[in-house]
Amino acid sequence: MIEFNHVTKQYPDGTVAVDNLSLKVEKGSLTVFVGPSGCGKTTSMRMVNRMLEPTLGQIRLDGVDVAQGSAVELRRGIGYVIQNVGLLPHRTVVDNVATVLLLQGVHRKEARSRALDVMERVGLPLELARRFPASLSGGQEQRVGVARALAADPQVMLMDEPFSAVDPLVREELQRELRRLQAELHKTIIFVTHDMDEAMLLGDRVAVFGGHGTLQQYAPPEEILARPATEFVESLVGRDRGYRALSFLDAAELSTRPAPVVSIADSATADLPDSGWLLVTTQSGHPMGWLDAAHQRSLNGAEPGAEALAPLGSQLIAGGSLRQALDAALSSPSGQGVVVNSDGVATGVIGVDEVAARLAQVRAAEAAVGANR
Ligand SMILES: Nc1ncnc2c1ncn2[C@@H]1O[C@H](COP(=O)(O)OP(=O)(O)O)[C@@H](O)[C@H]1O
Ligand SMILES: [Mg+2]
Repeated sequence: MIEFNHVTKQYPDGTVAVDNLSLKVEKGSLTVFVGPSGCGKTTSMRMVNRMLEPTLGQIRLDGVDVAQGSAVELRRGIGYVIQNVGLLPHRTVVDNVATVLLLQGVHRKEARSRALDVMERVGLPLELARRFPASLSGGQEQRVGVARALAADPQVMLMDEPFSAVDPLVREELQRELRRLQAELHKTIIFVTHDMDEAMLLGDRVAVFGGHGTLQQYAPPEEILARPATEFVESLVGRDRGYRALSFLDAAELSTRPAPVVSIADSATADLPDSGWLLVTTQSGHPMGWLDAAHQRSLNGAEPGAEALAPLGSQLIAGGSLRQALDAALSSPSGQGVVVNSDGVATGVIGVDEVAARLAQVRAAEAAVGANR
């Protein structure tokens, strides 16, 4: 069991990323942390394996404070999967999966054979074993990341937006696989996502985070749908017909705003808009990432490198659904989802409010049709 007891995390610059978080993840259950970008999900998760230390409060794993004992020892029992899985490019797939086992001193032959078993478990064809990561599809890469985390058979798994970078069809397949795996393996899992559908599908319990790392509700999915605890939760799950219905509505008539966009060459000196975020693009207009005031200052006039830019989040491609529009807004660090045309060039941004307004229009129109019948 994982227990957060009044955990607060304040970063050195004063940002309170997690505010007095208390919750329990039962042994063998899967808890999802869900909420918009910047609400403290990753920070909360990283305190479990001590990649970060809480400012206040305590996290217990099976009754023992994780701060006791060695961090290395602690992490041995915790698998960790992230969005861009960070596979070693010069090692074959099977050796990537075996990484942790090899670090633990398991002999190569034994490690490979266990790695092949776990590959099979997560639905990776064994003929991929000798290939290199660059030749894999996005979905296969994520599976290798999951297999690598599972190889040492940890009791606890931390999964930070593991499926967010793959396209929706592959995402659904990976979600199904994870449910099947979890039904067999009964790991204690914390799974982070900004996607409410994903949270509802995967979670035994779902923790909804609001701004500044405040927990809004912690309950099984059915209860969150039936009795959202706050207005914020209600807005995330949707009022009448729910979030899922958004998939069937296209975003064509969504009013987008002009993007606060600047090409990389000019980004160090450009004025920041009121939102405090600049969308940095290549010279040809392809979005690269978001730049905020603090990072812009630290550039001292030089072009930003990858580390200065916050990741874009998912993008709304012209012709997408309202669901993708909401996804884009929720996954963007600036709260503004990036809209791109079919060439991948940024054409504008949208916020959660615009998606909500469009949804209200659609519903009003439907109600009018219904009333005339
Ligand atoms: N190293 C850091 N220093 C200062 N602020 C940080 C740092 N890492 C994250 N933050 C801030 O903490 C808040 C929570 O971030 P994070 O846990 O990454 O959120 P999420 O995973 O929900 O998107 C955000 O406001 C983010 O900008
Ligand atoms: Mg995160």
